[in-house]
Amino acid sequence: MTRILDNHLMGDEEFAERTLRPQYLQEYIGQDKVKTQLKIFIEAAKQRDEALDHVLLFGPPGLGKTTLAFVIANELGVNLKQTAGPAIEKAGDLVAILNDLEPGDVLFIDEIHRLPMSVEEVLYSAMEDFYIDIMIGAGENSRSVHLDLPPFTLIGATTRAGMLSNPLRARFGITGHMEYYTQADLTEIIERTSDIFDMSITSEAALELARRSRGTPRVANRLLKRVRDYAQIMGDGTVDANITDKALTVLDVDKEGLDYVDQKILKTMIEMYQGGPVGLATLSVNIAEERETVEDMYEPYLIQKGFVIRTRSGRIATAKAYTHLGYHYDEKAPKNQHDS
Ligand code: ADE
Repeated sequence: MTRILDNHLMGDEEFAERTLRPQYLQEYIGQDKVKTQLKIFIEAAKQRDEALDHVLLFGPPGLGKTTLAFVIANELGVNLKQTAGPAIEKAGDLVAILNDLEPGDVLFIDEIHRLPMSVEEVLYSAMEDFYIDIMIGAGENSRSVHLDLPPFTLIGATTRAGMLSNPLRARFGITGHMEYYTQADLTEIIERTSDIFDMSITSEAALELARRSRGTPRVANRLLKRVRDYAQIMGDGTVDANITDKALTVLDVDKEGLDYVDQKILKTMIEMYQGGPVGLATLSVNIAEERETVEDMYEPYLIQKGFVIRTRSGRIATAKAYTHLGYHYDEKAPKNQHDS
């Protein structure tokens, strides 16, 4: 559960992601608002020799919430224990993790919105006053045992602000909203990764990759690796704009950075539902993706780029979506009649 850098147990992708991870705030590119605040709060906690207040990180997958949690622990000079909401099934699982913490440690819970309620309730006193009361035994012989915990920092990550219960949310003193990365920041991340991989990439190619990476470092780094493969086999190893464009086209990443699933979502909305409104559940079934995946990963980007809007009666494909995919956009079509 702790951070074990044992590459025998990791897939290529995971190993690469870990070695690419910045260790300190100074190396962490982008998310300036979150970084500026954290820098101050970390420094203050260190000066007072206290645990940092609990931190809640919001944002779509792949924006570096886990990376940031590791950076925070590094900056604090403490251990990080990592787990995820769905991995903690019973209160006892959480008690075992909490019992293992040393003073000042960071406990990182990814997908914290997926903790079962019975587990979440144990967190309340642990977060607020650093203790837990656990029930031991059953029936007449059951008794409550009080367990004091060392002061620790909980870092929770969630893709959706709305999914967290109010009592849990209220116990985080620091919140950070992660945003899609700008092209400039993504370009810098791509150049940093290229350096680590010791590969040669032109600045035009880095910019083109940044443009087509959905504002997401995880996507940028993955595409960079595929483009590198392409350059190695189809060219002389140098990643230039031409090779990048060819590789991304083969990978079904279009000029706006929409991937196969993004395109399928928009095409389904347009071809099967006249542009909408269409409900998320219906849409997910039609494209054979989990509703959660569509809601957390695909939709936020399509909305932010202006391809989709959300209305009370469902999702609607915009004129921009029609034009981008080469469809004729008819203003009088049914799509806007339920708009709100
Ligand atoms: N690699 C992935 N995300 C990064 C970030 N935000 N800063 C630096 N390197 C990264």
